[in-house]
Amino acid sequence: MAIERVGVVGCGQMGSGIAEVCARAGYDTLVHEINDEILAKGVDRIRGSLERGVKASKLSREQADEAFGRIHGTTHLEDFADRDLVIEAVTENLDIKRTVHRTLDGVCRPHAILATNTSSLPIIEMAAVTRRPAQFLGIHFFIPAPVMPLVELVQTITTSDETVAQAREFVRTIGKRPILAKDIAGFIVNRLLVPYLLSAIRLHESGLASREDIDEGVKLGLGHPMGPLALSDYVGLDTLMYVADVLYDEFREPHYAPPPLLRRMVQAGYYGRKSGKGFYDYGK
Ligand SMILES: NC(=O)c1ccc[n+]([C@@H]2O[C@H](COP(=O)([O-])OP(=O)(O)OC[C@H]3O[C@@H](n4cnc5c(N)ncnc54)[C@H](O)[C@@H]3O)[C@@H](O)[C@H]2O)c1
Repeated sequence: MAIERVGVVGCGQMGSGIAEVCARAGYDTLVHEINDEILAKGVDRIRGSLERGVKASKLSREQADEAFGRIHGTTHLEDFADRDLVIEAVTENLDIKRTVHRTLDGVCRPHAILATNTSSLPIIEMAAVTRRPAQFLGIHFFIPAPVMPLVELVQTITTSDETVAQAREFVRTIGKRPILAKDIAGFIVNRLLVPYLLSAIRLHESGLASREDIDEGVKLGLGHPMGPLALSDYVGLDTLMYVADVLYDEFREPHYAPPPLLRRMVQAGYYGRKSGKGFYDYGK
């Protein structure tokens, strides 16, 4: 079954980027948010990103307008009934994700593939609430989705090889490079990235180095485009904390435990770039 119509649930940082990538590749793309105001914000984010692409000569005005024309918004999951593939990118919370997938399973046609963009949660726990566990997998993009070329495909113990093959083909058509991971917390990349980011936060928390020196040290000494504290702000401190909690739960290894400073910042509403404040200030 060919994938023609794509759905994206959640139009936050990741969902908006994923929707943009799909629309730019020619897919009719439907995005869902919990209310009209957040939906409008998400759609504006897509528009803004396409405009930046035009300014940077990465796409023409015509391509940007065409891509935007393929994006539709809704606040009703029932509208996903005609989708061939739905990628869920809602908040990193298992209960919320399970509720979304249970509803999607009831709404979508039998051939449709359901996918989650979770960074860390057990995918099988979402697949298990549907009647299509063989057609359920992780399709994990990286931030910012329009720029980063990698997509991790995550095969659970119930995902069929055919579903993985279809997802691999889809990922290629949107111009990304797939790698295959198993359904274990953190998959491949976050298993390596998260302990590194948490170590940088601990270093800062211990008072041994300033945030600027930590970030400058990694950029100049390791050649990374971004330092770990700026990257944590970019990822979202709430998302980083949720992911670290899941990794710690799965492996019980101290280097996955979120440092108290990260938890305090999230409790204070400092979510990083998306809230205007994290390790750095971003204004409104
Ligand atoms: N931020 C990253 O670097 C990154 C990278 C890869 C994957 N992810 C994963 O992507 C997912 C989303 O992360 P994000 O950074 O975009 O978070 P975000 O906070 O920017 O966006 C989450 C969105 O989900 C929406 N939402 C919440 N409940 C919903 C529901 N029931 N139905 C529809 N929408 C709902 C929220 O309104 C919000 O707009 C998480 O699973 C996260 O782990 C994040």
